[in-house]
Amino acid sequence: MSEQPKVFLSGDGSHSLISSTFDTSYHSKHGAITESTVVFIEAGLDYLANHGYRSIRVLEMGFGTGLNAILAFNWAKKHHTPIQYQTVEAYPISNKIASSLNYGKLCHEENIFQSLHLLDWNQNHSLSETFTFQKHLCKMEDIDLPSAFDVIFFDAFAPANQPELWTVNMLSNMIDCLEDGGVLVSFCAQGAFKRNLKTVGFKVEPLPGPPGKREMTRAIKIKNL
Ligand SMILES: C[S@@+](CC[C@H](N)C(=O)[O-])C[C@H]1O[C@@H](n2cnc3c(N)ncnc32)[C@H](O)[C@@H]1O
Repeated sequence: MSEQPKVFLSGDGSHSLISSTFDTSYHSKHGAITESTVVFIEAGLDYLANHGYRSIRVLEMGFGTGLNAILAFNWAKKHHTPIQYQTVEAYPISNKIASSLNYGKLCHEENIFQSLHLLDWNQNHSLSETFTFQKHLCKMEDIDLPSAFDVIFFDAFAPANQPELWTVNMLSNMIDCLEDGGVLVSFCAQGAFKRNLKTVGFKVEPLPGPPGKREMTRAIKIKNL
């Protein structure tokens, strides 16, 4: 089993974790909440809302700290747009570390944030009128994905740290579980990643990245006519 990661304070005042097992951090040192907001909330959820989606099915690669999930919870509440959130995690953080993270406080949802970590794995939970949540304890490579999704938060560790998760094979599985018109969003803008996305059929849209990163990626599953 992997060693538990350590908490650090990122540039915008929100916590993140550093993993000695994967030799990298969970978020940008310039700001964890800022990065997740730009990459997943704005490029993913706002994009779909602007394209007429009135409910959204999210698949997340790597539950980790739960930051993307609590931001999505707040987004669903604010926009009155129901989200079904499914997330996959192979190496969960301990409840002790989860309870020390400041996301619940910064997002004004301490109880919900702690619930995300304490709730049973592999079961569907209704957390509010606009948010249902299920976390799968397994490797993304091994899961038989349960349904079709509108957006994939592709939040694996970077290709240099986890090359096996950025392959044509993995991305082919990802495009298969998206509905037409759905998107995969990632902090990564590596050339090989973008080529692999195109190989499996995505239209690749480079976007300005969060602070400290020139570019990020949105990949769109074009509708088959
Ligand atoms: C960059 S971190 C981001 C986590 C999370 N989205 C967050 O904001 O904290 C990557 C996450 O992917 C998880 N992970 C690594 N390999 C995995 C695999 N094969 N399947 C599922 N999760 C994996 C790690 O344990 C870690 O939690």
